Amino acid sequence: MDATPSAAIEILAHEIERFPQNTGSEHDDRLKAYQAEVEQSLADPNAYWLNQANRIEWMRPPTQSLTYEWNTEKRIISHTCYADGILNATTSCLDRHANGERSEKTAIIWQGEESADVRRYTYTELRDEVCRCANVLKRLGAKKGDRIAIYLPLIPEAIIAMLACARIGAIHTVVFGGFSAESLRDRINNAEARILITANAGRRNGKVIPLKTWADEALRDAPTIAHVVVVRSTSDAVPMTSPRDHWYSDLTSNESTICEPEPMNAEDPLFILYTSGSTGKPKGVLHTTGGYLVQAALSHERVFGMREDDVYWCTADVGWITGHTYVVYGPLANGSTVLLYEGGPTYPNPGRTWDICDTHRVTVFYTAPTLIRLLMSHGDEWPSTFNLSTLRMLGCVGEPINPEAWRWYFDIIGKKRCPIMDTWWQTETGSILISPLAGIHDLKPGSALRPFFGIEAAILKPDGSVCGTKEGGALCLTRPWPGITRTLWGDHEKFIDTYFTANPNVYTAGDGCYRDEDGDLWILGRLDDVVNVAGHRIGTAEVESALVNHDTVAEAAIVPIRDPIKGQALAAFVTLMDGVTATPDLKQQLLLHVRTSIGPIAVPASLTFAPALPKTRSGKIMRRILRAIAEGNTNDLGDVSTLADPGVVDTLLRLKEPRNS
Ligand code: WT7
Repeated sequence: MDATPSAAIEILAHEIERFPQNTGSEHDDRLKAYQAEVEQSLADPNAYWLNQANRIEWMRPPTQSLTYEWNTEKRIISHTCYADGILNATTSCLDRHANGERSEKTAIIWQGEESADVRRYTYTELRDEVCRCANVLKRLGAKKGDRIAIYLPLIPEAIIAMLACARIGAIHTVVFGGFSAESLRDRINNAEARILITANAGRRNGKVIPLKTWADEALRDAPTIAHVVVVRSTSDAVPMTSPRDHWYSDLTSNESTICEPEPMNAEDPLFILYTSGSTGKPKGVLHTTGGYLVQAALSHERVFGMREDDVYWCTADVGWITGHTYVVYGPLANGSTVLLYEGGPTYPNPGRTWDICDTHRVTVFYTAPTLIRLLMSHGDEWPSTFNLSTLRMLGCVGEPINPEAWRWYFDIIGKKRCPIMDTWWQTETGSILISPLAGIHDLKPGSALRPFFGIEAAILKPDGSVCGTKEGGALCLTRPWPGITRTLWGDHEKFIDTYFTANPNVYTAGDGCYRDEDGDLWILGRLDDVVNVAGHRIGTAEVESALVNHDTVAEAAIVPIRDPIKGQALAAFVTLMDGVTATPDLKQQLLLHVRTSIGPIAVPASLTFAPALPKTRSGKIMRRILRAIAEGNTNDLGDVSTLADPGVVDTLLRLKEPRNS
């Protein structure tokens, strides 16, 4: 990844608004305590993190804290946390609540797309069901360290399956249900998963999502899978292949609700989650058990100021890291009540999300800017129809939030009462690293504010020197934290290259950033070839290679364009093989090809057939020019003097296709 900015990053000059989080002497005390904790976490990280380990259950508590060696030159990048501790993540998330005062507390409220479809699990019921599922996995031959793929809709069984894997020490790899059969196959093959847990179908926006059909397609070429466990989530019929496929309900109905938790070293893997990068296929980000869980629990509690009676709704799917850390591990470790909603946020009408907040009396709501913009586009009447008075805390994650969306969220949804936590983090960081804290920081629309406890950020210029105030640069983290990814599955060299070479001996996040005059951080978006479409990370190289794999395509370039709802969208420029004619039908075929190769989220918003792509004399595609053309900034093509053939640009300007929708 080349995440060092090649030129100074432009910082938009705008008036910074401040929303003070109460003042007075109580605030002064809180601020002092906060500052002391920040200082302690940085001055004595060993003591700080060892102390934090107490927030989860251990079979053998650790005596070791955070250790690391980051030496890019020697190509040694390693970090561990609690390396001599023994635990099982599920005892913190389940048993200690089920065996204690939270035994009858609701752990999960599941809301299906039909209003009447509601299921609830107490912590005891959840523990029992996880144990049943864990026993099933064992009976199917799963052992500690095996990989198990999960391809499910957002139903309680998704959480149950993840925790069942953790219970027996198997490594789960959850694949988002919106990914195609090919994407699922690639992930299964890379992880060499032995078991797949899926459902007959999911449901979204009134439509059936045929997960089992896609899974069957993926499994034609996924030889490591020996068993498929199928949850019957809808009434849709699906073919079952004997003896490979099993109905979940048939397997679990007679299973015992007792399954002893497998003792795991803190550094044993908990899960692999695939994410897109700037090159090649998605990478398997590996997270381990102890440090990840401690930091998930700590950040969830502190960022959202969790209280015992909260009803907490994080809208992320468990197919993403937000779902792992802030739907499953963080909130369950903290004994929270978690709301899960399977359906579309504006189905059957644009009030649906607020209807759910009202019906289930949601107190803490955590979502993505893209959803806020989508809901905002439907007007203020929808939220005003519902009672949102239980809300007390709001959050957002996934992309920079534009100040307009922030203000709408603050005024219309939070009624100016609810602080907004704009949380910055990544699949690789495991948990929130930059965020305001309620009652402590003045909020500023568009700023993620401050590094969390124990986190040290630096903003670096291309030459490695530190940026000054209001100078844009590459966001880097100068020391590890307990939940940082340990490696990329099966490719430690790539791990070093991707995160530790652009700036030696520090973690380079891939985002642009600047610090304002108060010392608060503003995230500016990706610096590498990763595009953020509706909060989902998509590597341009991945979409380009999907296009080039099509028989008719000689060359393809993908560039990001601004999108009012999704933040960014993809624009494709495609050069066809000699003799192939560009037709509207072929264009549709190519878009469909991307959909089946990766999934709907990767389908370009526009596709232009280009007789040739603009290239430098050394053959490098000039994406900057394509981006300007795609966005219609044709007066702003910049320096085109390095182009091998400047005529290409004129042709493209004539041919540029409008967006599909
Ligand atoms: C990328 C990570 C971590 C959960 C969701 C996405 C962008 C994330 C923010 C924010 C500005 C943000 C960054 C980052 N991002 N949160 N609050 N402000 N940008 O996880 O798929 O690993 O993507 O999302 O560009 O690098 P992910």
